[in-house]
Amino acid sequence: MTTRAPSPSIPPTPRAELPSERRAPSDGVPGASLARGLRCAACGAEQGLDAATACSSCFGPLHVSYDLRDGIGHAPEKFLGGRAGGIWRFQKLLPPVSSGLTQELDIGPSPLRKARRLGEAWGLSDLWLKDDTVLPSGSFKDRPASVAVAFARDRGFREVGCASTGNLAAATARAAARVGLPCSVFVPAGLPETKLLPVQVLGGRIVEVEGSYDDANRVANLLGEQGSIGLVNITLRPYYTEGSKTLGLETLEALGWRSPDWVGVPLGSGALLSATFRGLEQVRELGWLDRSERDGPAIFGSQPIGCSPIADAFGRADGKIVPVQEPRTIAESLAIGDPASGYEALAAIRATGGFADAPTPEEVLSAIHDAARHEGVWTEPAGGTVLASIRSRLDDGTIERGDRVVAFLTGAGWKTTKVLQPVARWAPPSIRISPQARNLRSLLSSGPPEAVGAAAGLRSPPRPEVGPW
Ligand SMILES: Cc1ncc(COP(=O)(O)O)c(C=O)c1O
Ligand SMILES: [Zn+2]
Repeated sequence: MTTRAPSPSIPPTPRAELPSERRAPSDGVPGASLARGLRCAACGAEQGLDAATACSSCFGPLHVSYDLRDGIGHAPEKFLGGRAGGIWRFQKLLPPVSSGLTQELDIGPSPLRKARRLGEAWGLSDLWLKDDTVLPSGSFKDRPASVAVAFARDRGFREVGCASTGNLAAATARAAARVGLPCSVFVPAGLPETKLLPVQVLGGRIVEVEGSYDDANRVANLLGEQGSIGLVNITLRPYYTEGSKTLGLETLEALGWRSPDWVGVPLGSGALLSATFRGLEQVRELGWLDRSERDGPAIFGSQPIGCSPIADAFGRADGKIVPVQEPRTIAESLAIGDPASGYEALAAIRATGGFADAPTPEEVLSAIHDAARHEGVWTEPAGGTVLASIRSRLDDGTIERGDRVVAFLTGAGWKTTKVLQPVARWAPPSIRISPQARNLRSLLSSGPPEAVGAAAGLRSPPRPEVGPW
């Protein structure tokens, strides 16, 4: 696919003082960050906590490095301090941000729900749903966006933005609005209104790029190179990925630092999965995992067919990620053909003994439906892919019926009403009645969803009804 030129409607960003050259805030708050710099995951080169996309020597991924020595041997509650839940409870394990901003941009904690009825329906006794559908902009992206925007605000950036498949756009616009910064989001053209409208309501500027997410990302990169806009998942990527880490940290804390057997993560760029692994490694280093448990969960990743470059690479002998030129998938939020953190995600999956899967749209929709009707948790297809993987891996015995399994449900179903329309056909048919209707009981006697769905032959919708994937 060709790289397109940026739209002429984007005002040029003045080349001003580079915000990253300013000093980091050091407001001396107790429990402040233990970050000491950025380290390249490939060559180990270290640099300061500046805005940077990749290592200047080898282009490897950069991560915030920490000095955890003081924490080793301390109980988690003591180390984390008295701060109530939310991402900044893990402030010591996050980039440095001034305390006013941690208040403005606090997110979570989200519930970790024991899924008894869904587990029973699937024959799994210890299933948990980490429910990030409830976060303010409707997805886990509120976590990385808040950390990166807080960092940007502290460093003096006057504008923020991102490249997004939809969810990060709303999260970045929200975080920007919380701290009074203008925001521009680069998205592939044609996203549904449920993804775009929240950005506009929150005051963000939408730049629709006529192409894929990868095209939108390339265009945003051009703007990022000019320096004065902080692009959360590009020029501020090391700080953004740290925010994603809190999803796993919160989960482990809610489980009393006892490791589940499996953690399932949707794969887009692979950042969430690799950040989950880095958080796990920190928890191990701090010695917090219950010794009686296994050393940590196996982490698995899911991407639906139509855009599954990481899952495909997992199944290949050479492990090579082949970018998908034209993603067509039921989970548009995962439609990233060239995943920036793909190799790191693969390494994390392998290191923990996990797997990577690419469920079909039918499997994803059926799993979404099951979680919604049994648990009242309505996930978008990203979380649905994880649920679908659990279901199929139970069937083939990879996941055992007594295993403790946590599914990351990373986005809300209301954002993807269009692709979920086939699920509505499994519901009891809606009826329109006159205000004079009286025999209401018999009108409603068409039975529970299963009976209606089965009677209508809708256990698994035929392909054309599911969509063009
Ligand atoms: C709802 C949802 N889940 C999961 C992901 C994947 O996250 P990552 O790109 O960090 O792999 C995304 C990415 O946009 C998303 O929107
Ligand atoms: Zn390097």
